[in-house]
Amino acid sequence: MEYKWSVPLTILLPFTLVLLVNCDYEYPSLNKGLPLKRCYQCNTLKPPPGAPGASLACNCNNGNPYNRGRPCCKGAVRYYFKTDQFENIFSNRSSLEIETDANKGFLDYQSFITASALYQPYGFGTTYMNWTFFGTKEVAAFLAHVATKISCGNKLATMDQLAWGSCYNKKMNSNSNYCDEHYKKAYPCAPGVAYLGRGPLPIYWNYNYGKAGKDLKVDLLNHPEYIEQNATLAFQVAIWRWMMPIKKHQPSAHDVFLGTWTPTKNDTLAQRVSGFGTTMNVLYGDLVCGHGDNESMNNIISHYLYYLDLMGVGREEAGPQEVLSCAKQVAFNPSFSSSP
Ligand SMILES: *[C@@H]1O[C@H](CO)[C@@H](O)[C@H](O)[C@H]1NC(C)=O
Ligand SMILES: *[C@@H]1O[C@H](CO)[C@@H](O)[C@H](O)[C@H]1NC(C)=O
Ligand SMILES: *[C@@H]1O[C@H](CO)[C@@H](O)[C@H](O)[C@H]1NC(C)=O
Ligand SMILES: *[C@@H]1O[C@H](CO)[C@@H](O)[C@H](O)[C@H]1NC(C)=O
Ligand SMILES: *[C@@H]1O[C@H](CO)[C@@H](O)[C@H](O)[C@H]1NC(C)=O
Repeated sequence: MEYKWSVPLTILLPFTLVLLVNCDYEYPSLNKGLPLKRCYQCNTLKPPPGAPGASLACNCNNGNPYNRGRPCCKGAVRYYFKTDQFENIFSNRSSLEIETDANKGFLDYQSFITASALYQPYGFGTTYMNWTFFGTKEVAAFLAHVATKISCGNKLATMDQLAWGSCYNKKMNSNSNYCDEHYKKAYPCAPGVAYLGRGPLPIYWNYNYGKAGKDLKVDLLNHPEYIEQNATLAFQVAIWRWMMPIKKHQPSAHDVFLGTWTPTKNDTLAQRVSGFGTTMNVLYGDLVCGHGDNESMNNIISHYLYYLDLMGVGREEAGPQEVLSCAKQVAFNPSFSSSP
């Protein structure tokens, strides 16, 4: 039997090596423990004439016609997203009126870049599809969510429920310690610890701290305060939230943004379509979605459009209102913040 395999292996091996040489060097910090699918590496064949985005084109084909139209990834966020763009986007980051001076300017460019590197092999900010690069748009979308969250304490912030608990230095009046009894066995709550919203895309509840900590190999159950002290970790947890589904068998914000999920019949009935609007549904559910022309929702959308401009993509690339909005969508998870 063995000889039968040796022939194809000898044929395949050189190709595998070429792929490794061409692509894998981009991602030296691959964390094999993350429960995410690694994306296909794009190759560098020339795009067909007239393909959209030909100047940035990257072929997802890899010689296999069946890969056409599937996502693949290449490169790094730091190649196209620079310090001055970050500073532009968060031009008030050092003047946020938050509790302590120590946290002013806490979330900086370098911590975002270091944190993104962990998720680039999984397509965060690096995805191509149909010859088109989606990375810049994804970073704009992710940072739009972050910006509306960390504007807590900023006088410019107009929406209360979005500012709620959104400061990374856990500013919140709540009696709950967000310890869910159902998950006490798997994710035991440490005494005197409250699992309230921390990070630039705040996570709540012991099970989220437990899962994120497990994936990132940091003991967040016993030390949730690490998220307030370490900006790289804070962004890693935020990108974790973006990349991971809220619940099993649901898509992540990353999936719905790129359209790498297949909506079920229920999704279609609930008006959940691929695009930016549904990222709000994944992350906030009925706190923001399904209320028609809601101010909180519009504020997040405005941030996204503005960042598309700042990042040189242009808001006209954002797509139609049906894709941008979740005004008519039914929440994936009703009353998101009060039940797992
Ligand atoms: C990519 O192309 C395939 C086949 O033409 C199409 O089904 C798919 O919707 C496209 N994906 C995107 C994101 O445009
Ligand atoms: C906030 O950023 C804007 C735009 O860069 C700037 O004009 C303004 O002075 C900043 N405000 C504070 C309080 O730093
Ligand atoms: C901050 O977090 C990152 C990512 O988890 C880690 O690599 C780094 O060692 C931490 N820094 C400190 C000072 O603990
Ligand atoms: C679809 O929605 C119905 C009604 O809410 C529910 O009973 C059913 O379990 C859902 N199916 C899936 C696959 O989520
Ligand atoms: C947006 O929806 C939230 C959640 O229901 C609500 O609290 C808020 O008042 C709504 N805002 C507007 C302007 O409708």
